[in-house]
Amino acid sequence: MMIPILKASNLSKVFGSGHTEVKAVDNVSLSIKAGELVLVMGPSGSGKTTLLSMLGSLLKPSQGNIEIEGINVTELKESDLPNIRALKIGFIFQTFNLLDALTVEENILFPSQLRPEGRVGVKNRANRLIEKLGLAHRRNAFPSTLSGGEKQRVAIARALINEPKLILADEPTGNLDSQTGQEVMMILHDIARDEGYAVIMVTHDPRVEDIADRILWLEDGQLHDRKSEKHSWVKDPVCGMHVDEWTANLVSQYKGKKYYFCSKRCHERFENNQESYVV
Ligand SMILES: Nc1ncnc2c1ncn2[C@@H]1O[C@H](COP(=O)(O)OP(=O)(O)OP(=O)(O)O)[C@@H](O)[C@H]1O
Ligand SMILES: [Mg+2]
Repeated sequence: MMIPILKASNLSKVFGSGHTEVKAVDNVSLSIKAGELVLVMGPSGSGKTTLLSMLGSLLKPSQGNIEIEGINVTELKESDLPNIRALKIGFIFQTFNLLDALTVEENILFPSQLRPEGRVGVKNRANRLIEKLGLAHRRNAFPSTLSGGEKQRVAIARALINEPKLILADEPTGNLDSQTGQEVMMILHDIARDEGYAVIMVTHDPRVEDIADRILWLEDGQLHDRKSEKHSWVKDPVCGMHVDEWTANLVSQYKGKKYYFCSKRCHERFENNQESYVV
């Protein structure tokens, strides 16, 4: 039987204690195989970043186990984790997290310092990634001179340089315009489908739902599998904008009906004068 790339069992994370205690992730189990693209979605504060940080060994779980390629990383010493992170996991963040003093090529090569093999093999791989991600003309540029889409492509190449089997992306398109975001999304889709990486992506972008294998829906730190469900768009009664019923944080109940709001502004206006917004 094929070992999953990632297997998490009964993961929980509690921040603080006593009356300030927050259970950010509550008894989550999941498993992901090579070639799968899995989305993690849910309202703001539902525990997505906390979950991803634990899966990537950036944050110690309060409870539960994580196995990466059959290795129980929760049992490892703190001093073993940098190697696991560098060699087995590729991270992609909303804010790109590139090193400003290094060029595109140097940023991509940076995690390969922990690779036991010689420089030549790594350099060749960096060259292939630079070509593949359309960065050849920006190879010697510094991050401050790159567009958002270019920065994220550098971050993807950096995540792939050590050929980790697991890619974790936390809102990778959150700082990009719609089309650039779509392009980044398709790169992540292709590395799962064509190259067999296991990709877990946190996103608020409903457009990706159709190309994902699974959607893991987090609500108050708990996982719900809503594979077959679709988003339900509702109109904000104040401004008229469409709001995602799943992710809207601002909700009011009035005369037995629920109303969803895009922003605090609309929510407050509604609360102050409900009658005028209800048809
Ligand atoms: N270091 C921390 N200390 C205390 N509480 C924290 C910490 N990190 C996160 N939390 C809390 O845990 C909960 C989950 O936060 P998390 O960042 O995982 O949410 P998220 O789903 O990623 O939200 P968003 O969509 O806004 O990024 C929130 O209530 C948050 O305030
Ligand atoms: Mg987050």
